[in-house]
Amino acid sequence: MVSSAPNNPPFPAYRATDKGSFAWDSTVRRWPNIIDNAFNDFKTAMEKNDNADARREGKEILESITTLKNEIAGDKPLRLLLDKDSDVDDWNRHISNYFAGVTWFTGTWLFNECYLYRRLREIYIMSHFWKSYDPFGEQKLATFRGSHGSVFDLARKMPEMIQPVSEERKELVYQELLQVCLWGNATDLSLLTNMTEEDIKRLQAVEKEKLAEQKKHILVDNIDEIWEKLKTLKDGRVDFVLDNSGFEVYVDLILADWLIQSGKASKIVFNCKTIPWFVSDVIPQDIPILLDACLDRTFFPDNDKRSAEDFEALETMVNRWKSYIQDGRLVVRAHQFWCTGLSYWMLKTEAPDLFDDLKQSDLVIFKGDLNFRKLVYDCDWPVTTPFRTAIGVHMAEEFTNVVSLRTNKADTIVGLKEGVKEEVEKHATPLEWRCSGKYAVVQYNRCPQ
Ligand code: F6P
Ligand code: MG
Repeated sequence: MVSSAPNNPPFPAYRATDKGSFAWDSTVRRWPNIIDNAFNDFKTAMEKNDNADARREGKEILESITTLKNEIAGDKPLRLLLDKDSDVDDWNRHISNYFAGVTWFTGTWLFNECYLYRRLREIYIMSHFWKSYDPFGEQKLATFRGSHGSVFDLARKMPEMIQPVSEERKELVYQELLQVCLWGNATDLSLLTNMTEEDIKRLQAVEKEKLAEQKKHILVDNIDEIWEKLKTLKDGRVDFVLDNSGFEVYVDLILADWLIQSGKASKIVFNCKTIPWFVSDVIPQDIPILLDACLDRTFFPDNDKRSAEDFEALETMVNRWKSYIQDGRLVVRAHQFWCTGLSYWMLKTEAPDLFDDLKQSDLVIFKGDLNFRKLVYDCDWPVTTPFRTAIGVHMAEEFTNVVSLRTNKADTIVGLKEGVKEEVEKHATPLEWRCSGKYAVVQYNRCPQ
């Protein structure tokens, strides 16, 4: 068994001490931006609040946010958490056992980044008036609004995609939907500053020709292997370990809907985060907010130009999703383990209840970059390391079938065939193909059990 610990993964961890690295850039540039956006949104929310005590407390919150930002810039040690939320003992145990004495730069990029979002949470949880405030709520909704073109395109295509048809036709639809679901991950809000509007439109495209063009950017492509599993599945259970709200979870819902309508699954479980996380990650309350936004005919910016057929297509589909939630075919839930700073190599020992429950699923689809980083311990593996090795023995051999749909937004990468890295580097810099979100991997591990 490969030896590992959170501060010493199987290969060197990424750390912000490496000047010029993406971890360093995140720590010195991206995080301060993210904190500033949260600060400004909160300031607006606070000033709008009618309650003078809430506004007074809001000023203290703004000061705490500034203190946090200065702590990072000053490379201070990670301190224990001070609130009384139900995950605090676990967090403090992880800090004491694995990261005692590390600083905002010397700790691992993975743990520190998770700790940042938990520290932001601490500020609100310790308040009186703002306990349930989501510092990223406004941003999540505003960006979804901007995805209106692809939202309606997909809603109009849906009736045709879910028609009862042959397995061959189902495979074609699957091939398209899996890619739509993959590229939906490209536009998370913590990275949006690195993308142009053109990039975003291209990545949210749902037309066949554009998807075929995008396929060239999938560096590990197990789409066919996943279909081999799905082909045999009837009335199964499929879990999504979700990533981002907005357009990404909208396309996750589309894929989930198709799995149900095609008879592949009779139960879908959406595993969400428990707290506002990495800006745009889904917390359970985001789902009804998003469904209601779709049903609100004034929500999207160009709704006055939409036809009655457009609205009907979207509303029929969204009402069907609501009925899945009501009758239990779609379960939306959250677990604290997803909001720790640990790799999924530790899922079995840290959250045995969750591990055992997910084992019952036929397929667990991990969405996005952070889930990928956690699956493979976020370290500098030789790029040709098999995915199976990189996810660790519990996940590879004692769990269930694992899929990762990830657009590459961080350095770590595994599973490349010999020569792929050299080939891609003929036309893309390492930062571009590893971190820009414009390249992707679709990885699959079939569990022997
Ligand atoms: O800040 C870094 C990071 O973890 C990147 O890996 C990625 O840019 C983003 O945050 C989260 O991406 P995703 O929403 O796909 O997990
Ligand atoms: Mg995310």
